Amino acid sequence: DHNKLALPVGTTLDRFIMRKQEDFPYATGELSQLLRDIALAAKIVNREINRSGLIDIAGAYGNRNVQGEDVQKLDVIANIRFIRALRNGGEVCTIISEEEQEMIQTGNHQGKYVVAIDPLDGSSNIDVNVSIGTIFSIYRRVSPTGSEGTEQDCLQPGTHQVAAGYVIYGSSTMLVYTTGNGVNGFTYEPSLGEFFLSHPNITIPKTGSIYSINEGISESFTPATAAFVKHCKDQNYSARYIGSLVADFHRNLLKGGIYMYPATKKSPEGKLRLMYECNTLAFIVEQAGGKSSNGQIRTMEIEPKGLHDRCPFFIGSTELVEKAEEFMASEF
Ligand code: AHG
Ligand code: MN
Ligand code: MN
Ligand code: MN
Repeated sequence: DHNKLALPVGTTLDRFIMRKQEDFPYATGELSQLLRDIALAAKIVNREINRSGLIDIAGAYGNRNVQGEDVQKLDVIANIRFIRALRNGGEVCTIISEEEQEMIQTGNHQGKYVVAIDPLDGSSNIDVNVSIGTIFSIYRRVSPTGSEGTEQDCLQPGTHQVAAGYVIYGSSTMLVYTTGNGVNGFTYEPSLGEFFLSHPNITIPKTGSIYSINEGISESFTPATAAFVKHCKDQNYSARYIGSLVADFHRNLLKGGIYMYPATKKSPEGKLRLMYECNTLAFIVEQAGGKSSNGQIRTMEIEPKGLHDRCPFFIGSTELVEKAEEFMASEF
């Protein structure tokens, strides 16, 4: 029952995770430990980001990743920090990261979980003091413990997620996550080094008046996408686009709205990655009462074929996503 789960604002993240675990008598605590490991890495990355202007960790790292993007130093630092925390924590056998082509084996053969992670989201905003984030999904492995995780463990559909969350390093730093029982947000108190429950039971408004899309690439929108964007303008919606997925999503989650990264001529599959961007936020938005699809198929039901698959992405308030799907129907 829901009352049992209600915890007051100000509860620390550690206590919150512990209390939630008590609600599942057979839980072994491994998922709880894993969530705490992620929170610890988030604190470390938060510290690096906060002082990045003072030490030499802003700017380009000097090579390109598997996505063909110029890697930023903080992409590399965040990737290292999260992988280290997950390896040391012991609960994870295998990691998929935006920054690494292949699966990362932690050496924890007894680990029951697989993590998919975008260690640093919004890299183009690092050097200009604009919000950035971390996005993570947690799956239970399907192969037996005792050996390395397999590709089958990693390529599960989003419906199989056991937990998903993001960290937003913004005007304040927050951790927002779900284990399939609603969405809760925690704000970081840097002088105490703790996350505190600040946004219990987040729900997304049924509709909204914000649309978020990179209109700089409108020349390469499909006719249906262009028509839906025109519809948003006809409704006098506000355009809001930060260029950090986490930050754009977080705002729309709290205020109501729709975020889109559609298929374009340049990227026929869209730009965003299914395993560590789209599925993660899809699980969160659905848990908050919203919706996510590729314009037709529910994001979490898309069958992943590769670790770095991309998909068109429409996410946010239910009414707005359904309206977008009406427009997109002509293309399917
Ligand atoms: P990342 O920084 O992890 O590579 O992700 C970049 C993504 C996402 O954060 C953002 O919403 C999107 O790229 C912006 O793309 P455009 O610059 O094409 O709008
Ligand atoms: Mn990137
Ligand atoms: Mn990203
Ligand atoms: Mn990234």
